[in-house]
Amino acid sequence: MMPENIHSQKILILDFGSQYTQLIARRVREQKVYCEIHPYNIGPEKIKGFGGKGIILSCGPSSVYDKDAPVVDKSLFDLGLPVLGVCYGMQLMTHLLGGVVAKAHRREYGRADVTLDDNSDLFKGLSGREVVWMSHGDRIEKFPDGFSPIAHTDNSPVAAMKDAKRRFYGVQFHPEVVHTPRGNEILRNFLFEICECKPAWTMGSFIESQVKEIMERVGRKGVICGLSGGVDSAVTAVLIHKAIGDQLTCIFVDNGLLRAGEARKVEEVFRKYFHINLVAIDASDRFLNRLNGVEDPEKKRKTIGNEFIYLFEEEALKLKDIGFLAQGTLYPDVIESVSFKGPSATIKSHHNVGGLLDKMSLKLVEPMRELFKDEVRALGRELGMPDEVIDRQPFPGPGLAIRVLGEVTPARLEILRNADVIILDEIKKVGLYTKIWQSFAVLLPVKTVGVMGDERTYENVIALRAVESLDGMTADWVRLPYDLLAEISSRIINEVKGVNRVVYDISSKPPSTIEWE
Ligand code: XMP
Repeated sequence: MMPENIHSQKILILDFGSQYTQLIARRVREQKVYCEIHPYNIGPEKIKGFGGKGIILSCGPSSVYDKDAPVVDKSLFDLGLPVLGVCYGMQLMTHLLGGVVAKAHRREYGRADVTLDDNSDLFKGLSGREVVWMSHGDRIEKFPDGFSPIAHTDNSPVAAMKDAKRRFYGVQFHPEVVHTPRGNEILRNFLFEICECKPAWTMGSFIESQVKEIMERVGRKGVICGLSGGVDSAVTAVLIHKAIGDQLTCIFVDNGLLRAGEARKVEEVFRKYFHINLVAIDASDRFLNRLNGVEDPEKKRKTIGNEFIYLFEEEALKLKDIGFLAQGTLYPDVIESVSFKGPSATIKSHHNVGGLLDKMSLKLVEPMRELFKDEVRALGRELGMPDEVIDRQPFPGPGLAIRVLGEVTPARLEILRNADVIILDEIKKVGLYTKIWQSFAVLLPVKTVGVMGDERTYENVIALRAVESLDGMTADWVRLPYDLLAEISSRIINEVKGVNRVVYDISSKPPSTIEWE
């Protein structure tokens, strides 16, 4: 039986530009309710056409009185759907429905104690006083007709409000962040008590609905799927294979930008576990030629992305009746890339979405476009894939090219590979490989002076990056034990020719990113 309810049970999240928007989506999905983020300006028709059980207006950096403040079409409030406004979302709701928003005397940022004055619906099950995370410069002076305040703080007389009849709710604070310890209960109340959603979003139901969708979209055409060796493309391939069997051919390209021994290993693992048509191509010269003289990070990404597509199109011509290219694009790639025209800023062109050509003859199949990384791993497990594939740390599409800062040459790639092997080896030895998100080497475009034996050296610097993360959207550097750092540093400097210094990257994301380019 088809799980008809995952899509009728969904929630629409309108993005007003906050980095927290993705976090709201994660929290909703953790409750097994499907949701999608769309830019605030998708237009009333699309909002209406979305269907679903409720709408969340996210936060954003603006004030409703800014000249270019993002404003949603007011007809949203006539759809008869429950609405939850978070922070800016609440202020906008107030502004649009006839209330008054004003600059607060004091900006409220960080931890705050909120007194809950009404625990009947949104705050059901919570105590009278809770700790929440605030981040706003404006406050509600007068709430719109039909509303009443349901929480206050010393600074905000209206820290939350509701119009129970129309099922409109607003909170000045962020229920989605961990610093609001009982925020999940608030979101749960909105989803289940107010929107009356059912927790129907499970990996089993996702597989069923995607298999059906892929079959319908592809028909009798052939599909090629680029394998990178990473978990995303492997899960994409297995999911598509489940839907269309031998109509799928996987293509594994050695682009000369892989880790040491990776090309051979990927082919081996893939042939061992999966019975899917596989073509392996060595295109390292071709990619390295293209990258000759390219130093700009975005240009590197685009060059590599484009080259992949040219190559896939060429391969498609050699096979019979190929109509589609499958990619393991994930939700964060979509959100952080140019193709998503929302207000969240473009950070990097991830190759999956960044390298696409305007006139590509193959159509795209991206069955995981709506998933976060940990959801992909759960999906892989549900599909019966082995840990060896599922637990691999993420590896970026443009490969080592974005870890050799500056020009990418075979000699510099060699130095990076040799350092990288040592890092992975040591991280695995202490049992950290599957516990942390990523650990890798970056070759810096600077040389430093050192002394080896009695000789002065003037050699390269390797940066070690190790981060913890849930989905790559935010990350923190791992507090690796000093002894491990010492061992990695000493081995790299002693064993890798051309390196005389190792530094440890202690930046979190944001404001840095995980990769250096
Ligand atoms: P950043 O550097 O944006 O990386 O903080 C977030 C996560 O995404 C990976 N990454 C990529 N993955 N194609 C990919 O498939 C790409 O172009 C790409 N760039 C970054 C990165 O390794 C990290 O896990």
